Amino acid sequence: MEASSVIPAGPVGAADPVASPVRVAEPFALVIFGATGDLTGSKLLPALFRLWRGNYFAEPFAIVGVGRRDKNDAQFRNELRAATEAHDSGQPAADESWARFAASIFYHRADFNRAESYPPLTDRLRSLESQSGLGGNRLFYLATEPDYFPQIVEQLAAAGLLPRDSDTPRTRVVIEKPFGKDLASARALDQHVLRFLREEQVFRIDHYLGKETVQNLLAFRFGNGIFEPLFNRRYVDHVQITMAEADGMAGRRGAYYDRAGALRDVVQNHLLQLLTLVAMEPPASLAADDIRAEKVKVLRNLVPIREADVVRGQYGPGLVGGLPIRGYREEEAVAADSATETFVALRAEVDNWRWAGVPFLLRAGKRLPRRVTEVAIEFKRAPTGLFTAPVRGGGLCDRGCDCGATCECCNAGNQTNTLVFRIQPDEGISLSFAAKRPGMRLVLGPVEMAFGYAGSFDEPVPEAYERLLLDALRGDPTLFLRSDEVTAAWAFVDPIVAAWKNGSPAFPNYAAGTWGPAEADRLVSGCRAGWREP
Ligand code: BG6
Repeated sequence: MEASSVIPAGPVGAADPVASPVRVAEPFALVIFGATGDLTGSKLLPALFRLWRGNYFAEPFAIVGVGRRDKNDAQFRNELRAATEAHDSGQPAADESWARFAASIFYHRADFNRAESYPPLTDRLRSLESQSGLGGNRLFYLATEPDYFPQIVEQLAAAGLLPRDSDTPRTRVVIEKPFGKDLASARALDQHVLRFLREEQVFRIDHYLGKETVQNLLAFRFGNGIFEPLFNRRYVDHVQITMAEADGMAGRRGAYYDRAGALRDVVQNHLLQLLTLVAMEPPASLAADDIRAEKVKVLRNLVPIREADVVRGQYGPGLVGGLPIRGYREEEAVAADSATETFVALRAEVDNWRWAGVPFLLRAGKRLPRRVTEVAIEFKRAPTGLFTAPVRGGGLCDRGCDCGATCECCNAGNQTNTLVFRIQPDEGISLSFAAKRPGMRLVLGPVEMAFGYAGSFDEPVPEAYERLLLDALRGDPTLFLRSDEVTAAWAFVDPIVAAWKNGSPAFPNYAAGTWGPAEADRLVSGCRAGWREP
């Protein structure tokens, strides 16, 4: 959604009243490992620039990019400016405010794997800190390939950069996803990291939690008196969570993706996080651990999944938006006989008093017809057939067919109540219900009540990384994953990974530009409606 209000040109004047209580109050150094990677240029730097322009940082501060390529500060700043301009349509970086911001950006070349790289990094950091009076608060952001995470943490600790037992100045570490590749590796990574850091110092990121619309799930459910009583097995037929992407493998993305697959890439994290927010009990307070405790309970209550409740797919050639698209196996850096899934659909169940028996249908895929992420709560039908009973004496319905007013097009099919949280694009919330169609007969038609961010609030909608970077710098872990959340999510996913090792279906099994393999339809059997095509 486009930001509608004007962003202040630089950190001057009073902070905006909504933002001011959440400023980073103290100077800091942010050290980004993987500084020449795509994430830094496309997400992190645009988000930092935007935060700075919004006056969220106390000055001074330093952003130190650490990468393996050889370059100097000026080159790095220029690259970041170009990347920020390319990825942030809301704010051209070409004006003089970029120059002021960029004066706080530095580049440090280092080989993450080599112990001898860390003493020079320590010296550089200390010298920047003393020159600028930064005070020693440090946030290390690990945005590298995941294989480097253990090594970087260990070497930072060996270099004395991760004081475990002291809180002033503050030291924290953000770890990008994927956090492990299965339960065992996630546990091993956790144990390793927690040898050097306290849990409060570790910020495991899932950028979906930073999305405004995802946070709204909690606000909507527990900030209103009228909806929450409906969120349970008595009223809900099933829940559908869809994360559809039209994109395939941009550039060399396949090199990572072919080892991960959709299940690890987005189901274990983004989709299960959405599920927890739909299913969790009201937290005791908005404190990070109260919220995270409720989310963990949901993950632990997931019924162990059977192989039959999961369908995987891989796209072949097809058309997306009318354009011919190559198949996954033809993508750059993807094996020609790859058995990696680019689509997953599964039927989960939360075994507790609130949700027992309600299917949670999760679906994610690449090269689907369009980019859309949504959570749809499908409510049960009205308990009586008042409006679906045949019209006495038969006759034509309002649409002119001879159904006695019971057909899908006039009555029966229209009596649906669906609450949809549109995470992206066109962010908002809508509720569909039945209303009487104008006319001389009592026939219903589907209508909708809708809320959209655009037009309802004046404030711009922040990017996920903007919110998450701000929170990590402030030390608020609410929107980050606690250790037990990550492992509980892997514990659910692991049996699927294990089952899939025993062979794979005939891939490709769906054409690019379609909603995935037809086999996924069996997962919706017994539900009031089939898969949505949002
Ligand atoms: C990332 C996945 O976590 O999320 C990508 O690794 C995916 O494969 C991306 O494309 C989608 O994020 P968003 O915010 O565009 O929905």
